[in-house]
Amino acid sequence: MTYKDVYRASLEDPERFWMQAAEAIDWDRKPSKALFDRGEHIYEWYADGLVNGCYNAVDRHVTAGRGGQAAIIYDSPVTGTKSTLSYADLQTKVASLAGAMVAQGVGKGDRVIIYMPMIPEALEAMLACARIGAVHSVVFGGFAANELAVRIDDCQPKAILAASCGLEPGRVVHYKPLLDGAIELADHKPDFCLILQREQEMAELTPGRDLDWHDAQNGVPPADCVPVEGNHPAYILYTSGTTGAPKGVVRPTGGHLVALNWTMKNIYDVDPGDVFWAASDVGWVVGHSYICYGPLIHGNTTVVFEGKPVGTPDAGTFWRVISEHNVRSFFTAPTAIRAVKREDPKGLEREKYDLSCLRSLYLAGERADPDTIQWAQDILNVPVYDHWWQTETGWTIAGNPAGLEALPVKIGSPTVAMPGYDVQILDEAGHPQKPGELGAIAIKLPLPPGTLPTLWNAADRYKKSYLNAFPGYYETGDAGMIDEDGYLYIMARTDDVINVAGHRLSTGAMEEVLASHPDVAECAVVGVSDQLKGQSPLGLVCLTKGVNRPHGEITSECVKLIRDKIGPVAAFKNALVVDRLPKTRSGKILRATVVKIADNQEFKLPATIDDPAILDEIRDALQTIGYAKG
Ligand code: COA
Ligand code: AMP
Repeated sequence: MTYKDVYRASLEDPERFWMQAAEAIDWDRKPSKALFDRGEHIYEWYADGLVNGCYNAVDRHVTAGRGGQAAIIYDSPVTGTKSTLSYADLQTKVASLAGAMVAQGVGKGDRVIIYMPMIPEALEAMLACARIGAVHSVVFGGFAANELAVRIDDCQPKAILAASCGLEPGRVVHYKPLLDGAIELADHKPDFCLILQREQEMAELTPGRDLDWHDAQNGVPPADCVPVEGNHPAYILYTSGTTGAPKGVVRPTGGHLVALNWTMKNIYDVDPGDVFWAASDVGWVVGHSYICYGPLIHGNTTVVFEGKPVGTPDAGTFWRVISEHNVRSFFTAPTAIRAVKREDPKGLEREKYDLSCLRSLYLAGERADPDTIQWAQDILNVPVYDHWWQTETGWTIAGNPAGLEALPVKIGSPTVAMPGYDVQILDEAGHPQKPGELGAIAIKLPLPPGTLPTLWNAADRYKKSYLNAFPGYYETGDAGMIDEDGYLYIMARTDDVINVAGHRLSTGAMEEVLASHPDVAECAVVGVSDQLKGQSPLGLVCLTKGVNRPHGEITSECVKLIRDKIGPVAAFKNALVVDRLPKTRSGKILRATVVKIADNQEFKLPATIDDPAILDEIRDALQTIGYAKG
């Protein structure tokens, strides 16, 4: 079958296509059908099936006689540790950890927050939740206590599983004070916390609330897999939206298992037993889908890498890991490749390793610029596949189905729509655009299995954010076009979300924090171009009347405030005091125009601008901090 046959079959008879794909999953009760139409454009997949995510990711491989195969390879240049966990070991560990949670009263449907670095125990925690039907929500370690508190209040976890520390180059991330601070800030309090003590830092446990990870497992029976309905939430993953409140993307169990399993061969071109590596973090969707669930469901070996592309210890780390662990398909963000290229432009580090095991490189998470793709192709001598997707979808919307039929790569395009995604370009009124015409990228409903059916605790926000703009379509928030060959091009976000080092961040959230500074009357945060990180946030602040403290003092406080309230991951290093902000006559801040000025790009004077003279003021101000230079 060619890609075209498969894609057409998925749209013409989704029921048949997705029931067939579901056969690769072990169900406790097979679903009677694939799609459940709940009305008003709300859909669910496999809702009346019964299934367990952990069973499919772990136990079934042991039952099939592959217990001795490596499930997880842990490679941590920051601690100098390497270890391998077989599927049988993983089953024992996960059942035991799940048993400890059950003994403390956690059961099906209870939420559990996981706040951990890139260590195998983070995957064990996710799988232990899946084993007992608990709904996990992993929070990225680079978020501050306040962001963790917001998530605690939103999903109201019964338990929090955390490690004592994480390790960033040159800095220990003290999880425990962040955790304590978050619980203090939150209205909701978890019943208990399980703390994994790492040898790099022992945390002091809070009596009556904290339990030691291992002690809690002593003397408790291991837990069995609890079958859950196909539409039972496997997890909630918070992602940035337009406002400060993050969106809790819900991932339904059945669809997630079926879709991820389908992608491992058809997109990533790996067979069970092959080593697959996604160099991301469990705190992001890539980590959920392709460090934890996807490879394990499909019976691959996954690599948990605790390090950075450069500096741990050098720009050859990626190539060493690929070579040493026999990685067949490798997935990372373009930023990571840019970091390696910047440090080792000639690819000399790559020459030190035998990379004959590597078949292809996959890039996603942000725009893959042609230079980066070309460079990677040249030094690795394998195809480089860009692919486009989002936290909301959990798997590729547009990609190159290399395992099914490798399509010609057009640099600048993530290639074509994957099965079940009827991707269309719409104008503002919702009319389909012709090939080559720019517009909003929308997907005709229903979305395929594995994608979000709603937002946690926010069904109305789900409709408002994704369904209302174009009735009958899911609005992706990205703009772009489709060419005559059906290749998709992603050009920009249509909202105030920016992408910094492959991390999705909300400028709205940063503006809320800046606005809380007592001397700030008004502000705007924009994403300006950054050679390494793609975009980087820049804050423009107008001061409250009468404030005449040194501007440098105020902007330093702004930088610190964002680090304290959102976290280091915001990478907010630049703030600038300006007299006024450019606005339309109706008061809307012209953020896109500010970006164009900062990046020194041509732009059309917005017809609705209130006072064009202000743009010169902004240009002058930006030049003082190194932007807007010709
Ligand atoms: N826990 C705590 N802090 C973290 C963190 C974590 N898990 N991850 C990042 N941070 C911190 C960093 O230490 C840095 O702090 P600093 O301001 O004290 O230096 C800050 O957050 C910003 O991090 P980042 O934007 O990642 O920049 P960096 O300079 O540390 O690293 C790269 C640059 C390119 C090496 C890095 O961004 C990278 O590897 N990117 C790959 C992107 C990726 O995997 N994205 C996932 C989506 S696919
Ligand atoms: P996240 O939900 O964090 O994965 O971010 C998803 C967003 O990142 C998308 O909506 C895009 O804006 C951007 N993105 C992800 N992958 C790509 C890609 N391959 N090309 C361009 N933009 C991308």
